[in-house]
Amino acid sequence: MKKAWGGRFSKSPEQWIEEFGASISFDQELVFEDLEGSIAHVKMLGKMNIIPLEDSEKIVQGLLKLKEKASAGELVYSVSEEDIHLNLEKLLTEEIGPVGGKLHTGRSRNDQVATDMHLYLKKQVLVIMEHIKELQEALFAQAEKNVETVFPGYTHLQRAQPVSFAHHLLAYFWMLERDFERFQESLKRIDLSPLGASALAGTTFPIDRHFTAEQLGFSGVYENSMDAVSDRDFIVEFLSNASLTMTHLSRLAEEFILWSSKEFDFIELDDTYATGSSIMPQKKNPDMAELIRGKSGRVVGHLMGMLTTLKGLPLTYNKDMQEDKEGMFDTVHTMIGSLKIFAGMVKTMTVKADVMDTSVHQDFSNATELADYLASKGIPFREAHEIVGKLVLGCIQKGCYLLDLSLEELQAACAQIEQDIFAILSPREAVKRRNSYGGTGFSQVRLQLEKAKAKLEKS
Ligand code: ARG
Repeated sequence: MKKAWGGRFSKSPEQWIEEFGASISFDQELVFEDLEGSIAHVKMLGKMNIIPLEDSEKIVQGLLKLKEKASAGELVYSVSEEDIHLNLEKLLTEEIGPVGGKLHTGRSRNDQVATDMHLYLKKQVLVIMEHIKELQEALFAQAEKNVETVFPGYTHLQRAQPVSFAHHLLAYFWMLERDFERFQESLKRIDLSPLGASALAGTTFPIDRHFTAEQLGFSGVYENSMDAVSDRDFIVEFLSNASLTMTHLSRLAEEFILWSSKEFDFIELDDTYATGSSIMPQKKNPDMAELIRGKSGRVVGHLMGMLTTLKGLPLTYNKDMQEDKEGMFDTVHTMIGSLKIFAGMVKTMTVKADVMDTSVHQDFSNATELADYLASKGIPFREAHEIVGKLVLGCIQKGCYLLDLSLEELQAACAQIEQDIFAILSPREAVKRRNSYGGTGFSQVRLQLEKAKAKLEKS
């Protein structure tokens, strides 16, 4: 098959080598962006009289026809045309004849592919941001219902202090808010047009880069043609933002997996998000949460892959850069899928408030209350800590909890303890009274909900 670049060659590559070098199997995902970029470019060629206006119009018509066919799934690509760019050029020429060959005037695949990927990511980042909001809304709705649901808060995965379940969920709300902002901020760097950088050095044709940028909805252009065709940092930044978001999802997934186990039993996931076992009839496995935890690994892998691919590359374009696409596409799909599933999982889960309540009554997570109580009576906190530590040890030896001790027993440890301690030791009280700003106290959590709502309304 004759190559678009075949003039200088005296023999064609063997088929398997051609297959190794081709990207059409995956970069066809850029078909609409490529057509859009070509339409802007060829309109500019006509406007600037670089090619006759009627040729430009003819090419635009041809490209629109290809767009229609692409939407109908009627385009047939071939590996021998290597990538989406050359495939479309070939299909265009088949559609409108040799005038199609004028499309590539003053342009290179190097600025073309970079333009496609900027257009693609700009669109997908907005979609991802919407899905982040949807998950935040789901977390918000569950939090709203569970302000006074008290459950164990952990450090080192050991019971630490009781907290509001809403407070725990809202912690993820804020992580996702920062993720959202990171994606939003990255848009200004994605929103730049490389088109017109040509192969690397710009072009002798009197092109108008600002016109094509405007046509494509970019808010600016790359200032340096060599940077424009070499830059993949917008992809690295995207993969980095995605990795962090996926890491957040992975942590919450891990918690869902723990909480839905018999050992914790704090939530039950809806059947839709679980599967059974082929052998053990009783099983309900939290597959979707596990998968999301697992998929975070592959997104982080794509980030590492991209950084490693780039790190030794001299300017400007190198074929290595063709490796930038699969990880990016996969990350987009993985993220959208994970966020959608997670939102559904959060919306439909059952919160077992009664189990949570029982469990906070069967631990020592109110020990800090007692120490703080003693400190508020003027006992140095370090001393109070020691007294309570001894009381806890005594309880463990006896097989009971602090609330099971009588006033006399408590007073034997410290005479300053009075009857009011029993109210203070209740886990609910412990949560309710933690009203320092951003704390888990019910009124603080309500304040947080207001702030969270304002964020949701703003975006
Ligand atoms: N398929 C190529 C890629 O994805 C397009 C750019 C090719 N440019 C070149 N000079 N070979 O990177």
